[in-house]
This record gives sequence, structure tokens and C-alpha cells, in this order.
Amino acid sequence: MRIILFTGKGGVGKTTTAAATALKCAKQGLKTLVVSTDPAHSLSDALNVELKPEPTPVTENLWGQEFDVYYSMKKHWDSMRQLMLTIFKWRGVDNVVAEELSVLPGMEEASAFLWIEKYYRTNAYDVLIIDSAPTGETLTLLTLPQVMQSWLTKAFPGQKFAIKTVGKILRRTKGIPLDKGYEELQALFGKLATVQEIMVNPEVCSIRIVANPERMVIQEAKRAYTYLQLYGYNVDGIIVNRILPEEVGTAGSVFEKYVKSQGHYLQEIDESFQPLPIFKVKHQGQEVFGLELLDAIGDTIYQDKNPAEIFHKENPFNVKEEGDYYVISIRIPFIKDQEFTLEKYGDELSISINNQRRSLFLPRFANYLEMESYTFEDSWLKVKLKKG
Ligand SMILES: Nc1ncnc2c1ncn2[C@@H]1O[C@H](COP(=O)(O)OP(=O)(O)OP(=O)(O)O)[C@@H](O)[C@H]1O
Ligand SMILES: [Mg+2]
Repeated sequence: MRIILFTGKGGVGKTTTAAATALKCAKQGLKTLVVSTDPAHSLSDALNVELKPEPTPVTENLWGQEFDVYYSMKKHWDSMRQLMLTIFKWRGVDNVVAEELSVLPGMEEASAFLWIEKYYRTNAYDVLIIDSAPTGETLTLLTLPQVMQSWLTKAFPGQKFAIKTVGKILRRTKGIPLDKGYEELQALFGKLATVQEIMVNPEVCSIRIVANPERMVIQEAKRAYTYLQLYGYNVDGIIVNRILPEEVGTAGSVFEKYVKSQGHYLQEIDESFQPLPIFKVKHQGQEVFGLELLDAIGDTIYQDKNPAEIFHKENPFNVKEEGDYYVISIRIPFIKDQEFTLEKYGDELSISINNQRRSLFLPRFANYLEMESYTFEDSWLKVKLKKG
């Protein structure tokens, strides 16, 4: 089973492009399921079909599903929910609040992961397309094992432990029924780890970042790209959506400035993300919903390519520890042999070439670390940061 996840800033067109990709896969004869992990679902609206929290038929070869954490927990993982409830009640949290707390931060993501695990294990579909929430939450989804630790810290305040040791702590804690719920909790940790392994396997999972030719959107896309690579996920393409056609930007028109700046941003996107393939989608001049319009978007993105293909596979980013330093290596093909200067502002690296400035983002831990030196060789920039 192939997994393709769409992420990007709020409102850029994740749901639209995910649904269009799913439809295109289905039309190629691939058995396809498109799921929405964003609790503020709009996949039903995009497909113009009422979706349920279980796979719902949309058209030939295509199913859609809007995950619902309460539904998922109750139907499939109720004993685990009961365990969480018991723990919270035992800690003196009253019933109603405990019911809410059993949907802790990260629980949405965990239940999404469990569905993914189930589909992958049973090879239920040829392609699973994930329409995710805006970037921040998607990163939460993808760093789930870390997030789970935060639940446990909430359940057992004042105790520091890693996921591995949770079993021991629960066993030591008197007064909690450690029966089926506990077993499920353990199975859950196992499954989550498995899903993460699946999702970082570039042969299985591709992440596609959706953006618009706008400043803030691009900044967020670059940050997301850095993080996704840091966590080992394979980004195999960028979709630049809602590009205004040049002709609406004629001199004196309302969109003149927008279309002009859009040109600069498109160039910035080309440079910042190369050698990733960049797919461009024009503004359709109307809202996009329903299979017909999605079909047109799918054709624009992929043309005669297979949307389930792996469009790019490379890890252009890595972090190593070397004694008192972290060395971050980043592949930046656009610099080529040109002279450049590099400055670091917080988590941002600013590269100046011929009076042109380009920025890259380092992982946030680099924010307060001093840059000792940098080198550039064979398109690889190596930045040496002194540990704090
Ligand atoms: N190429 C396009 N041309 C015109 N309208 C578009 C295009 N792509 C998306 N839209 C419209 O933009 C709006 C937002 O798109 P969409 O819901 O896909 O974004 P999103 O990234 O999923 O948003 P959210 O972050 O809220 O989930 C929708 O009304 C959609 O119809
Ligand atoms: Mg959406």
C-alpha cells in the first residue's frame, strides 16, 4: 500500500489537492481511500459526498473517510479509553472532565495512526491518501511517539519516564486495574512505533507540501520541509496551488501587484525546493468541489504521470553530533559555484547571493546556538553550531 500525505499552511488547498489526487489514482484503477485527519473536516464538501467515520464509497475504486476520535476510540479501542478514564478518575479528575481528557492532545493523531496501521497491515487499499490538518498539527501527528510521552506525564505528573518504562510504572502503581486496558495500551505503543516506521519508509510514504505563491505560506512550507526531513519523512513534491493567471495582472488592474509578486515567489519556490518536483495549479476562478472540478485539478497537477508514483527520493538534510558541536548538512543545489554569504538569525539561515537573499530554516533547537563556521562543497552546505 502506498501512502501519500498532504500538508501545508491553513487554507492553501490540502483537501482539494488530496481529493484530486485520490480521484486520479482511482481513475487509474488503483483501489484508493482518502482520509481526513483534520477534526475540522472538509473532505465531504470537497468530494460533495457525505463521508462517515468508516470508509464510505465515493465513486468507482474510491472511498472516503473522515476520522472521528470519539467514534474511533469507542468502537475500536474502548478498553484503552476506559484505562485512560480510570487513570484520570483515580487521580481525582471528575467524570465529565475525565471523559474529555480521554481525548487528550495527540489522541486524534493516535487514532489516525491506528487506522493507518490497520489499513497497511491488511493491505486494504492500493493507495491511502491523507488529507491532514494545517502544518503544525500534522507535525504533531508525525512526531506522535514524543507526544504520547506528554500524555503520560499528564497522567502521572512529576514522573519522568520514557515510553519503554510505562509498563513498569503502571505495574508499580496500585489501585489501577491493569487488565485489558493496559494490554491495549502496550499494543498501542507497539502499533504507533510500527506506523512511524512505515511512514518514514520512502518506498511506502510520500509527503506532498501544498503552498500558494505568498510570503507567509512559503515560509511555513520551508519550515515544514526542514522538520519533515529532520524526522526522516520523504517529501516527494511541492504543489503550488491557486496561481493567478498572468492576464489578470495587466497594468492598472486590481491584481497587478499580486501577479507581479507571485512571479518572484514562484522563483523563490523553485530555488528553495529544487531538486524537488514542483507542480503548479492555476486558480480555477471558482471554488473547487465535486468530482468534475477535482478531476480537472488532478489533470493539471499530474498530467500524464501516475499520481501514486514516488516523484523524488533523497535525504537532503541531516544533523550530526560532533563533540561540542552539531553539524547540520543541507543540500542546496541553487547556490552552484556562486559566491555567497551566510548569516544566522535564530533558526533562520540567510544566504545572500548577488544581493539576493534566500532563507532556510534550521530545526528550532538551533535557535540559540552560535554558528561557529560553515563550508560549502558539492552543493552541500555544512553549518557547525556550538552546543549551548
Ligand atoms: N486551484 C484552486 N482554484 C480555486 N479555488 C481553490 C483552488 N484550490 C482550492 N480552492 C478553494 O480554496 C478553499 C480552501 O481549499 P482547501 O479546503 O482545499 O484548503 P485546505 O488547505 O484543506 O484548508 P484547511 O487548512 O482549512 O484544511 C476551498 O474553498 C477550495 O474550493
Ligand atoms: Mg483541509
